[in-house]
Amino acid sequence: MKNAQPHTIYLKDYQAPDYLIDRTELLFDLKPNATLVTSRLLVRRNPDAVKDDEAGLPALWLDGIDLELLSIAVDGALLPAQRFREEAGGLSLTVDKPEFLLEIQTRIAPESNTSLEGLYLSNGMYCTQCEAEGFRKITFYPDRPDVMSVFTTTIVAPATYPVLLSNGNKVDSGTTEDGRLRVTWEDPFAKPSYLFALVAGDLQYVEDTFTTCSGRNVKLQLFTEARNIGKCAHAMTSLKRSMRWDEEVYGREYDLDIFMIVAVDHFNMGAMENKGLNIFNSACVLASPETATDTAFQRIEAIVAHEYFHNWSGNRVTCRDWFQLSLKEGFTVFRDAEFSADMNSRAVKRIEDVTLLRTAQFAEDAGPMSHPVRPDSYMEISNFYTLTIYEKGAEVVRMIHTILGAEAFRRGSDLYFERHDGCAVTCEDFVVAMEDANNADLKQFRRWYDQAGTPVLDVQDEYDAENATYTLTFHQHTPATPGQEEKLPLHIPVAVGLLGANGDALALDESDSKEKVFHLTEATQSFTLHGINERPLPSLLRGFSAPVKLRFDYSNTQLLFLMQHDTDAFNRWDACQRLALRTLEQLQTQYRAGDVLESPTALIDGFSAVLGHTELDPALVAKMLTLPSAQEMAEQGSEIDAEAIVAAREFVRSTIAGALKSRFLTRYHALDERKAYQPTAEDIAQRSLKNTCLAYLCNTGDEDALTLAQAQFERGENMTDVSAALAALVEYGAEGVAEERLASFYQQWQHDTQVVESWFGMQSSSASFGSLGRVRQLLSHPAFELKNPNKVRAVIGGFAMRNFKQFHREDGSGYEFLADQVIALDGLNPQIASRLVTPLTRWKKYRAREAEQIQGALKRIADSGELSPDLYEVVSKSLT
Ligand code: PHE
Ligand code: ZN
Repeated sequence: MKNAQPHTIYLKDYQAPDYLIDRTELLFDLKPNATLVTSRLLVRRNPDAVKDDEAGLPALWLDGIDLELLSIAVDGALLPAQRFREEAGGLSLTVDKPEFLLEIQTRIAPESNTSLEGLYLSNGMYCTQCEAEGFRKITFYPDRPDVMSVFTTTIVAPATYPVLLSNGNKVDSGTTEDGRLRVTWEDPFAKPSYLFALVAGDLQYVEDTFTTCSGRNVKLQLFTEARNIGKCAHAMTSLKRSMRWDEEVYGREYDLDIFMIVAVDHFNMGAMENKGLNIFNSACVLASPETATDTAFQRIEAIVAHEYFHNWSGNRVTCRDWFQLSLKEGFTVFRDAEFSADMNSRAVKRIEDVTLLRTAQFAEDAGPMSHPVRPDSYMEISNFYTLTIYEKGAEVVRMIHTILGAEAFRRGSDLYFERHDGCAVTCEDFVVAMEDANNADLKQFRRWYDQAGTPVLDVQDEYDAENATYTLTFHQHTPATPGQEEKLPLHIPVAVGLLGANGDALALDESDSKEKVFHLTEATQSFTLHGINERPLPSLLRGFSAPVKLRFDYSNTQLLFLMQHDTDAFNRWDACQRLALRTLEQLQTQYRAGDVLESPTALIDGFSAVLGHTELDPALVAKMLTLPSAQEMAEQGSEIDAEAIVAAREFVRSTIAGALKSRFLTRYHALDERKAYQPTAEDIAQRSLKNTCLAYLCNTGDEDALTLAQAQFERGENMTDVSAALAALVEYGAEGVAEERLASFYQQWQHDTQVVESWFGMQSSSASFGSLGRVRQLLSHPAFELKNPNKVRAVIGGFAMRNFKQFHREDGSGYEFLADQVIALDGLNPQIASRLVTPLTRWKKYRAREAEQIQGALKRIADSGELSPDLYEVVSKSLT
């Protein structure tokens, strides 16, 4: 059974399923190259299907890919050959009964499944990945989320696989006559096939318990290979915190008696929320202070929470079809972001999320794959697990939260869960629940779901001293995107505060409030505030209250003032970013004109003031001192000149490093305390500023600074400090020194997969060290595996997505290299190939020379033979 030819699927064509599956019983007899899968399905005609009774009962369609069909029986009798037909992508059956028991036996080969979708092997352990459409690689089934069924799963495997897991509760276990192990799991909650999971291996686990708000005890287990058993504690703590938080903030209690997490090394994404049996990419769950950085600790906390939260937002209430993907993803990302904000620094979490949005989601919105939060068509759904669905989708939910207020939002989510529990629903159902619970009107707001592109918000202000009024005029405009020429005005909530000349927050009305949310609904709209007795400085779009590009003509002095005085921490940082971006833009212009680059004095003043601000959260200071990435600079401008971007950024960094060296040094020493590692917000903040200072210090190239890094590296206190020191040495130290440190580091950590992955990434993403030649060497390093997505992302992704300088070398060799890798990967793992090609998709925004080179590389991929549907969709859309 092969894949169907790539074709476009439309939301408008959605039809309810013809048949439902009330019960699903699966039997797996596991063998690496010949696993037998027997399914018993209770099939029933869907009373809600679109009916054409004249024609009799419709055929039953079952999806299936790469399956060997062995037998089909209906109500105990073999189905005659003329009653079924194998077609591209599945199986069509004519049964002519409204209800029947269907038994199908298929054979699959997990060992040769490199797509990491369906049932596959990772380091000798069996695991599954079914979202979105992987279940069809396991057995013939109506593999769509609106078919929900109660699953019972029996696994039979040799005794060398002592741990056999599936969803729900273990209800039976034993041994077969020939001495193999047999376990049966039953999941009482009806679920779509994409939430099915199976794991079999020689695994160890750590265990804990959680008592829910109603007093039930839930067993928590985290499974890994024996060598990683010491890296589970942080994920377990994070899980318990998430369970408590969801009870307290959303009133959601866990429903089964057991919750399991399994770590696997080969995984396409971060993790997967399978009912009661979450499967995680090892890098997103395993951590210890010696091996993982603060960033990894925080990522783990967020992802564990995200998957756990899906138990309600995704599993209990699921999606009707994949066009509704953001229903579960946008909502769940919003939930995990609020959780992380509550556990750590709220402002810093917001800054990180907005940076990702501005860098990558805005770029997606402006590129050939641009799509709305609820797309209306796709070729391959795997290509739509995007920043738009996840991050912009979360922003849309956040705006509903802002518009309605926290309490009303909670009433809405309560109603949503109550009304739709056990159902497969739509984004529209979510919005209606929010409205119904609050008598609210979100009619115009809905446009956020179907309009693609990033809105631009131009703002002007006017102060009338005589009448003491202050007027803000907003003009919104969303640029055209593929397939959407005309855009309508959106409902945009804009949170605003005003600063007086002495830096105080001004009262905005009689009730003395210092912040207001303006509801923009028209293309152009003005708001006037009264009783404003001095010309204020506006702090606009506080907390990034809407995912838009805001333009206001601030002077450098005004930005420096906001950096010092704004009470909104996010906007303080944003003022700093605006100043940096503007400075970098001017320098790019100077560079292109061949002028002498001007010293960035305003920015140096700003950074100097920020560095001296010892009461500010050090994590916020670290964020303020971090220049926008080259990728973000590229997103900002109208035409990308890679060389000018790199030159401007390097110039600003080294000028700042030189000018503020003694300040960085003072701050570094003050923060460099010897204490036991803890991943608390406070300690993480301290380390992040310390290491930001260290990087600037090393950027001077001065021997004393590099010696400092060397000492920090050698102390080896925790991976955060060690890897920050190593990264600084690699980036700014002499080549020989970098090579030597990298080698000794590898020597020490070669047994640890997660550390080796970051060791790869550090080299390939280094502007000074990660040349194409070096990256090629890494590809032939014994620890590199093309079949392991984490290693591919570290080496190839690190180079193409995080090493702007080397990737965009003027001879175009970076593009050709990426094209070669994408072609090679497409045969192994289409999802990874299609994600990796992203940097080539935006060729139209580059200067003519690069544009031509990138387009050439894309064309070469297109002409390289038969592409997977995944890669075909991205490449063909990028070339039109
Ligand atoms: N649903 C997963 C999540 O967001 C992501 C995922 C999608 C994982 C597809 C695997 C495959 O949590
Ligand atoms: Zn998710």
